[in-house]
Formats: sequence, structure tokens, C-alpha cells
Amino acid sequence: MPWLIAVVVVFCGSWQAAFSHDPARGKAVFQLCTACHGAGGEGNKAVNAPHIAGLNAWYVEAQLIKFRSGIRGTHPKDIEGMQMRPMSLTISSEKDVKEVAAYVESLTPNKGETTLSGNSDRGKDHYAICMACHGDKAQGNQALSAPPLIRLNDWYILSQLKKFKSGVRGTNPEDITGMQMRPMTMTLANEQAMLDVIAYINSLWEN
Ligand code: HEC
Ligand code: HEC
Repeated sequence: MPWLIAVVVVFCGSWQAAFSHDPARGKAVFQLCTACHGAGGEGNKAVNAPHIAGLNAWYVEAQLIKFRSGIRGTHPKDIEGMQMRPMSLTISSEKDVKEVAAYVESLTPNKGETTLSGNSDRGKDHYAICMACHGDKAQGNQALSAPPLIRLNDWYILSQLKKFKSGVRGTNPEDITGMQMRPMTMTLANEQAMLDVIAYINSLWEN
């Protein structure tokens, strides 16, 4: 099917023209992020900055675009989001957003300290509904815009579940993917249910 090969070649060619990757640039842009997220993207709980090392570039890019446009990080109760938003605005171009996102993905993830405790058996039951989008190993699913949860800090997951549930995240009318996530938090009746599902997600960690 020569026509199919031609289509694929043309498609790949145009994608490369749109973004020719420059890892050195991504690293340079990332220097600004290290103040909070750490030199290796390991995160820093003291400043509420989550572990981001190894997070998929498509998700990092999507979130940076949300922070820059104010779809995330502008709700008056989103204290941490409001700390992140001005940082996203210091990135000078859309190309640099892509470069820094690719650099974040290239960083080696490390398992953060466990800071919360929950019942992972009960959490497994709660996770059954999450699995449809985030995957059986919490590896994420780009086709559904659902990020991996496996490498997130437990304290960060708790804070985001609370934000979605209370409407601090996922209520901006332009936040299409956040609005898909928000109703899912209604299946977690209380903080204990959140802690249990987090304990289960934590148990899925693999290097
Ligand atoms: C002043 C400290 C600070 C700096 C500098 C900073 N961030 Fe953040 N970042 C945060 C905080 C705090 C959060 C958590 C927001 C929340 O809890 O909702 C965050 C969240 C994020 C998220 C969302 C993670 C997720 O799982 O959704 C990404 C992606 C991110 N930062 C990338 C970056 C990049 C890339 C840079 C550099 C251009 C950067 N940050 C610079 C503080 C910072
Ligand atoms: C219908 C699909 C769907 C289901 C089911 C779902 N999610 Fe999500 N989730 C998403 C999407 C899409 C996002 C990305 C939101 C965004 O782009 O800001 C997300 C984001 C998240 C985040 C934020 C991650 C980050 O890095 O900031 C957490 C935490 C999360 N989901 C946990 C859960 C849990 C726990 C469950 C089960 C109770 C669940 N999700 C069920 C689609 C889903």
C-alpha cells in the first residue's frame, strides 16, 4: 500500500518541522523550575511542589498551557496553583514549553517518601472506577488525557483530589479534561476513601 507509506512519511515530516527537539534548551529552561521542583524534578513538599520527574511530556505541556492561560492556578482558593502560575508565565515561548516538557519527561523518577497511610485493600475497590481512564497500573492513558498517577507524591494526590472535589480544580468552563475528572472524586465519600485509594496507587509503583 504505497499510498499509506506516503501519508505516514508526509505526516511525520510535518510533525518534525513543527517541533525540532533541542534537549539543551529544555534543560536551560528547566533551571527556573529547580528552585521548587528540585534539580532532578524530585519535588519539595516544603513548598508544595510535586515530584514531576518522568511525567509524560504531553501532560506536562497540557498543564503548563493551562497554568499560562489561567485555566489552572487562578481559583482564589488554589494557593499552590497560584504559586505555580507565574512560573509558567516566565517561559518565553510555546516552543520552550514543549522543550521543558520533553526535559521533564527525560528525568528519572524516584519514589518519594510515603507520608500518608491508608488501607490499600479498600483502596483497590475504590480504584476500580479510576482504572477506566488512568489504567490498571495507574500508568495513564494519553488517548483519554488521563495522566499517570503512579509517580505522584501521596500528599500531592490528596491535595488534588480535594481540589477537584471542592471545585478548586476542574470547574473552569474551559477545563475540558479537568471537568471529566471532577465527577470521579464524588465516588470517594470522604478523606479516608481518598487515603485508601492513594495507598493502593502507591502500592503499584514499579521502576
Ligand atoms: C515557586 C515554586 C515553583 C516553581 C519555580 C515552579 N513550580 Fe511547578 N508547581 C509548583 C507548585 C506549588 C505546584 C503544585 C500546584 C498544585 O498543588 O495545584 C506545581 C505544579 C506543577 C505542575 C503540575 C504537576 C501535575 O502533576 O499536574 C507542573 C507540570 C509543573 N509544576 C511544572 C513546572 C515547570 C516546568 C516549572 C519551570 C518552568 C515549574 N513548575 C516551576 C511550584 C513551582
Ligand atoms: C473519565 C476518566 C477518569 C476517571 C474515571 C478518573 N480520572 Fe482522574 N483524571 C482524568 C483526567 C482527564 C485528568 C487530567 C485533568 C487535567 O487535565 O487537568 C485526571 C487527573 C487526575 C489527577 C491529577 C493528577 C495530577 O498530576 O495533577 C488525580 C490525582 C486523579 N485524576 C485521580 C483519580 C482517581 C483517584 C480516580 C478514581 C476515583 C480518577 N482519577 C478517575 C480522568 C479520569
